[in-house]
Amino acid sequence: MKIKPLSNALGAEVTGIDLRQPQDPDTIKALQSAFVENLVLVVRDQEDLSPEDQMRFCEFFGPLGARARPADDRPEKADAPAEVMFVSNRKEDGRFIGSLPEGEMQFHMDQCYTERPARATCLYGIAIPEKGGDTVFGNLCAAYEALPKDLKAIVDSSRARHVFSYGSTSTDQVDDAGKTTEYVQPMAVLQPETGRPSLYVSRLMTRQITGLEDAAAREVLDLLFDHQERPEFLYTHKWRRGDLVIWDNLCTVHARTDFDPAQDRHLRRFTVAGAPLKAA
Ligand code: SIN
Repeated sequence: MKIKPLSNALGAEVTGIDLRQPQDPDTIKALQSAFVENLVLVVRDQEDLSPEDQMRFCEFFGPLGARARPADDRPEKADAPAEVMFVSNRKEDGRFIGSLPEGEMQFHMDQCYTERPARATCLYGIAIPEKGGDTVFGNLCAAYEALPKDLKAIVDSSRARHVFSYGSTSTDQVDDAGKTTEYVQPMAVLQPETGRPSLYVSRLMTRQITGLEDAAAREVLDLLFDHQERPEFLYTHKWRRGDLVIWDNLCTVHARTDFDPAQDRHLRRFTVAGAPLKAA
């Protein structure tokens, strides 16, 4: 197995491993260390990976997470594992079979609007459009480190409200009166293994800073979003079929670029369960 960095910001590429096979303890340890250090792992060339293979890989990093599901959502097949979610624009009987089917998606952390956001998210690329549909990752630990003093002081002492309107991919679509869910989290949270602080806010889902007037909170949040989306903190993942990608969902933020809705894009997702977040 070889592990090499993908960018100056974050991410490492893993090659020379076949995840359809069980792995020895040293390999698992190397993957765990690379995950903690690089925050995103891209395991290449994983052809024909079954849901069980993907679940076994996720369990190297912790117990499998349940998926948060709106009541009228359904998995692709009745016999699919309960934890699976498809990020997919495929349709059956005129209905999308998965979630987040189309279009650009703004930066966010998965499940930040719940008490226990996933520790990690893992996507497997089954069908990839010819162009676009890239996933862009941001390093929130590096973004925290580089904060100017005045913003760091606010982040260190504040909590923020995260809201998700199911299925929305940009703040234009958020319907605060509709099918939404929300939770208040510290704005600086710790990476559990290292104690590194992470700037835990995102453009798509963070709405308010507790204790600040709306206008003041908006101003601070806009500065933080612009800061964390600076190119030096980002890695853009251009998907290949057979890529298995796992990311640290506490220390990274991710977004998706637009793509042609007529092209097939089908990714299979599992998560690693998380715990209540610790403030830095
Ligand atoms: C997601 O935000 O979980 C989906 C990312 C993607 O479709 O690339």
